[in-house]
Amino acid sequence: MNFQKEDNSEHSVSGPVTRYSLPVTASLPLLFLAPMAGVTNSIFRRICKERGADILTTEFLSADGIMHRNARTEQYLNFLEEERPLGVQLFGGDPERLAEAARAVVDWVRPDFIDLNFGCPVNKVVCRHGGSSLLRDCPTLEKIAQSVVKAVSPLPVTAKIRIGWDESSINATTTARLLEGSGIQRLAVHGRTRSQGYSGKANWDVIAEVVQAVKMPVIGNGDIAVAADVLQHLSTGVAGFMIGRAAMTNPWIFSEIRSLLRGDQLPFQPTLEERWELIRRHCREEIALKKNEAAAMASMRARLMAYTKGFPGARPLREKISGISSLVELEELMMPLLEEN
Ligand SMILES: Cc1cc2nc3c(=O)[nH]c(=O)nc-3n(C[C@H](O)[C@H](O)[C@H](O)COP(=O)(O)O)c2cc1C
Repeated sequence: MNFQKEDNSEHSVSGPVTRYSLPVTASLPLLFLAPMAGVTNSIFRRICKERGADILTTEFLSADGIMHRNARTEQYLNFLEEERPLGVQLFGGDPERLAEAARAVVDWVRPDFIDLNFGCPVNKVVCRHGGSSLLRDCPTLEKIAQSVVKAVSPLPVTAKIRIGWDESSINATTTARLLEGSGIQRLAVHGRTRSQGYSGKANWDVIAEVVQAVKMPVIGNGDIAVAADVLQHLSTGVAGFMIGRAAMTNPWIFSEIRSLLRGDQLPFQPTLEERWELIRRHCREEIALKKNEAAAMASMRARLMAYTKGFPGARPLREKISGISSLVELEELMMPLLEEN
């Protein structure tokens, strides 16, 4: 991988800082951790980075939330230097407000890029004219991209889209061209329409069409469940793969994909002990962050369900996860599993 150094001191409030422009790779596709609300906090991002994810993004943050700068938003914006290159993802429907929010984010936390969300299907976001609703309002989408690019220049701005609003209005190539023309430097495409939600299958043929339609790097996203899945998408010509839900179960998927892409015979596979060690570490870090063990373990429930998917004999453990309020309780449930396997 090759990082290009550049000086973005224009954005610095406390003197010049050296930053990196978007990474490019001559050979292997880059691996991205997909932004996931409630999942991809700093702890999980670092877990994935240590296991081979090249590029991380925060979960989506609303332009309004940024401008109010409440404690919660500040928490979402927290990241460690080792997470770089890291992008902050923003959503909203008002070009001026998004530009203002992007500028504020750059001044506060100096991310390596700003990412614009044009894919979120959730009603609450769509009703506020954000996320995927902009896929059917291309003039506003274009204005948002242009105004954010201008506001944070020379910091790179990237975007993430779905392939269209619904089956009858798939417009990913049009959207991609508009975004490229607006100065967007890299595009992640989730191969589903808004109306699909998470049902059906991601359409990688449309992703391949987007790759052909633009010069900027296109990152393919959708339904990479195991490392080998990337092999069937290599012919699309994407510059990288973005992995979401599979990383929640198996954060090692990034190293596994890299092994496969390098042509290694046996991609790296973690043992049950290694998976358990990771779960423990994740819990400990959440407890330290929240300073409240019961609250931390409650927030870990969905994470634990994902981590233990496919564990041999994990059924009793998974049935009891919703009642767990301490790490000791989890350890007690886990021990028989580790002893048997
Ligand atoms: C729990 C969850 C939260 C998500 N939050 C975001 C988000 O904040 N921003 C975003 O662009 N996409 C979000 N997504 C969509 C993912 O980034 C990704 O596009 C989608 O999960 C498809 O990829 P996958 O099949 O690898 O999971 C979210 C998905 C999930 C499952």
